[in-house]
Amino acid sequence: MPALPDGDPAPADGALPAGLDWQLPLRAYVHIPFCASRCGYCDFNTYTANEIGGFRFDAYVEAVLREVQLAVAVTEPRPLSSVFVGGGTPSLLPPADLAALLSGLREDFGIADGAEVTMEANPENVTSAALAAWLEAGVTRLSLGMQSADAGALQILQRQHTPGAAVAAAQAARAAGFDHVSLDLIYGIPGQSTSSWQETVLTALSAEPDHISAYALGVEEGTALARQVRRGEVPAPVPDTAAEQYDVADEVLSAHGLSWYEISNWARPAGACDHNLGYWRGDNWWGFGPGAHSHVDGVRWWNVKRPATYQSMLAAGHSPAAGREILTPAQRRLEQVMLEVRLAEGLDPADFDEAAIAQLRGRGLLENADGARLRLTRAGRMLADAVVGVLLGWD
Ligand SMILES: C[S@@+](CC[C@H](N)C(=O)[O-])C[C@H]1O[C@@H](n2cnc3c(N)ncnc32)[C@H](O)[C@@H]1O
Ligand code: SF4
Repeated sequence: MPALPDGDPAPADGALPAGLDWQLPLRAYVHIPFCASRCGYCDFNTYTANEIGGFRFDAYVEAVLREVQLAVAVTEPRPLSSVFVGGGTPSLLPPADLAALLSGLREDFGIADGAEVTMEANPENVTSAALAAWLEAGVTRLSLGMQSADAGALQILQRQHTPGAAVAAAQAARAAGFDHVSLDLIYGIPGQSTSSWQETVLTALSAEPDHISAYALGVEEGTALARQVRRGEVPAPVPDTAAEQYDVADEVLSAHGLSWYEISNWARPAGACDHNLGYWRGDNWWGFGPGAHSHVDGVRWWNVKRPATYQSMLAAGHSPAAGREILTPAQRRLEQVMLEVRLAEGLDPADFDEAAIAQLRGRGLLENADGARLRLTRAGRMLADAVVGVLLGWD
């Protein structure tokens, strides 16, 4: 992928240059950068209490709401099309702080009627009191980090919950009144057989979620898992096994009524994540919180990563943006193709060279989607970046 230009210097105040079309819908992502402990494979921008001298959730939410007010000052506020509270571990937030966060967004921007409000939760934090409070605060969709139903796999991942906890949490969420419940799974875990992975998928389905995400385990530099792999204490994931497990996931999930709508995401009808669809379709979103990225009409910016720096910049009345880049039309097109190709709704063939499309069809990597559109086959989904290369004439 061609390199993007270096970021402009951080804007002094307000990340946006003038003249953007703010008539487009806006989505909000709110990052909660706190975790009870760090899972060995995760390199997200998140901190344990020990690493940052304890959690002050109320002060954190106050800082996020300051960023919301800055955003309102540089936009014509209009109701948000969706909200996604992710992390980190949003389910660590005391319910009163979550409620304050969502009320602040509602008061300052507004949240469109019927808009999806997703919250990520770790199974060990799910209680009936918490579920009732999350619903009361306005959360409409719960995304639970199940990862695996296999005790050995959970141990390799260094997760805190036991194999049954995520299914119990999903069932409790349904019983409490959540219409939309998603489970996150990870495949390609060293030592996990494909039959054990299939058991994980079936166990997840037994909780009757309307959405499942399945990600290939990535060994990210700087994580405990990467160190273990380097020292030979844990074998590296095997790409062929991961590919085989992806096939099994797609097979089992489609047989149970969950269709793929993005490479790593399957849903029942009306179960797709509207917020993430907006991201893949190139909508505008404002990411609030440390390390959060934003995108509005081809301008991208990102916030400082450390929660303390984020909070002190906002307390001093400054934008927490650390840098920004303005995409050229060519870069925007590349981004759009790379994101859209991931979706089952597919691409418009009129936008691409006929010979490239014929080649990809011939290799069994593209097939017909709805109407005249084209989408990745299952084999194509494993090779999405290579498909983009052919579509854009690099190969
Ligand atoms: C960063 S977590 C945040 C939500 C919540 N704390 C949880 O763990 O589910 C979101 C998803 O990213 C997944 N994830 C994080 N690091 C990953 C990696 N290296 N490979 C695959 N999935 C990863 C997590 O397992 C989780 O399902
Ligand atoms: S996977 Fe989730 S719980 Fe684990 S460290 Fe990452 S954000 Fe925290």
